[in-house]
Order: sequence, then structure tokens, then C-alpha cells
Amino acid sequence: MFLASNGYSREHDIAMKKKGLEMKDLRAAASAVRKNAHAPYSAFKVGAAIRSDSGAVYIGCNVENVAYPEGTCAEAGAIAAMVAAGETTLAEVYVIAGSPSPVPPCGGCRQKLAEFGGGDVPVTLATVSGEEFRTTIGDLLPGAFGAAHMSGE
Ligand code: THU
Repeated sequence: MFLASNGYSREHDIAMKKKGLEMKDLRAAASAVRKNAHAPYSAFKVGAAIRSDSGAVYIGCNVENVAYPEGTCAEAGAIAAMVAAGETTLAEVYVIAGSPSPVPPCGGCRQKLAEFGGGDVPVTLATVSGEEFRTTIGDLLPGAFGAAHMSGE
């Protein structure tokens, strides 16, 4: 597949331009929800905005807990909001954090994204200062465990 210099397919870029400021909208949504993150233990606030195949945008932020393993990631919150709204198909993902370089989703979140999005779904990782790294769910989780691995025997 042809990939533009920004990492997206040409078809995706054309579709995005036709629709207007789609990516900017996701960035604005992720940036806004990041401010609500509950991160008193790491002081590392993360915001996520996802677009489902219906075009709706769902948001999430990390929610930490004094019992550290109970904390949840921004991506998990956004996915939960999408599923709670009755949707199960990701079209686009945007994650933003106050890090020096775009921070990739943790392993668990990669698997969560793969549950609801195909390998070609675009994922943009961003910093508050404006740096962006564009990738896909497939590139974030090569060789993903999927339902097909459970068939047989
Ligand atoms: N975190 C996220 O919310 N998403 C990521 O992609 C990376 C990490 C959160 C979890 C925890 O609250 C904090 O960042 C530090 O790991």
C-alpha cells in the first residue's frame, strides 16, 4: 500500500481533507480530556480521542489509583466510552501526553485497540508541544493474538 510521508495511505489523506479538520478535531478532543486525567502518582497526564466508524468521537484519560495496578490508561477509557455507546469499530485513534516525544501506547492498550480496529487503522501519537508520530494498530502490535488463533483442535 502506498504511504504518504505522514504515514497514512493516500486514500486516507484524501478522505480526511474532504472531511475537513478531522485530525485537528481529534487532537483538540484528546488535548481537552487530558486535562481531566487523574494522575497524582505518576504526574503523567494522557488524553485519548477515538473516532468510530460512525464518525462519532469518544474520549478518555488515564485514571490512577492509590492501589497502583488499579489505574487505567487513557486509551482504555476512550474504548470503554465507545463500547458503552454501542459501538465496536475504530476508525482512527489519537493519543496525547506531556512527554518529550510521542509516547506509544502500553502493551495492554495495543491489544485493546486491536480488539476493535483492523491493522490499517491510523494511530497518531502526540506531544503537548505539537510533535506527532503517525502509525497504525498493525504496526503497534505485529503478530497480534486474535480470535482466529482460538479455532481448531
Ligand atoms: N498511560 C496512558 O494512559 N496511556 C499510555 O499510552 C501510556 C501510559 C498512563 C498510565 C499511567 O497513569 C501513566 O500514564 C504513567 O504510566
